[in-house]
Amino acid sequence: MTAADTPAIAVKDLSVVFGQGREAFQAVRGVSFQVREGETYGLVGESGSGKSTVLRAITGLAPVTGGRMEIFGQPLGHDRDAAFCRTVQMVFQDPYASLHPRRTIDATLSEPLIIHGIGDRQERAERVLKALADVGLGPEFRFRYPHQLSGGQRQRVAIARALMLEPKIVLLDEPTSALDVSIQAEVLNLLKRLKDEHGLTYVLVSHNLAVIAHMCERLAVMQHGRFVEEMTVEQLRAGTPREEYTRNLLDAARGYDREKAARFAAMEALEEE
Ligand SMILES: Nc1ncnc2c1ncn2[C@@H]1O[C@H](COP(=O)(O)OP(=O)(O)OP(=O)(O)O)[C@@H](O)[C@H]1O
Ligand SMILES: [Mg+2]
Repeated sequence: MTAADTPAIAVKDLSVVFGQGREAFQAVRGVSFQVREGETYGLVGESGSGKSTVLRAITGLAPVTGGRMEIFGQPLGHDRDAAFCRTVQMVFQDPYASLHPRRTIDATLSEPLIIHGIGDRQERAERVLKALADVGLGPEFRFRYPHQLSGGQRQRVAIARALMLEPKIVLLDEPTSALDVSIQAEVLNLLKRLKDEHGLTYVLVSHNLAVIAHMCERLAVMQHGRFVEEMTVEQLRAGTPREEYTRNLLDAARGYDREKAARFAAMEALEEE
């Protein structure tokens, strides 16, 4: 296998079990997938199906009980070292919870550089300003605190933080679902642009099939800790999934959109009266 064929992420037969004995709960069951370099790979499925746990297993935050994982061909052991952190970063759903409330944006963005011994004070300041500009925030944001930012701006800071170490892979766990609908598209388009500019590989978890269709090349559908089906975004768009569970998920999403559209139409009609 040549270097070009080596997947960015290879997961084989992954199992995750929380707790022990009678309390044991298997959250991920024999999950296998590969993500090519430069690809955006989606994970969808109902709440509790194990999507976040798969991402957390990759980052070493979940109790892996079986299987193998490789990042660019390097097997992952029990611990994640500094080289791993430089290669793989994660963005969480809730930008309110993921930023330290008493740290300035400058401190939050400088921290990974300090931990990894990168640059002197001057260089770090330059990289912080560059990172802010990259996510569409001006220098005036540098010494603000999280509570002085909107939800969308906070998520931009969380994305900037994930990119400080110039990773190759970013794991995105519902990166826009805590945001106002009007801001969601902005942040998704930002993620797309950053992916092209920095040559990133994404795994994107979302409940929202429209988000997955907009962002991903391939996706997996999860249910009860298993992969029910893996498909291309073309298959998703064409509405031709093989598995009944996936069809139901699609129908539910369409039904939801129709219901929402009908409600909006009804509201507009009322306003016009
Ligand atoms: N630390 C934990 N201890 C015990 N059980 C856990 C833990 N973390 C997750 N679980 C369980 O594992 C299952 C999968 O959780 P996970 O967070 O991966 O779901 P999810 O697909 O991301 O759901 P959501 O869409 O709601 O975020 C759930 O039943 C959850 O209760
Ligand atoms: Mg989750």
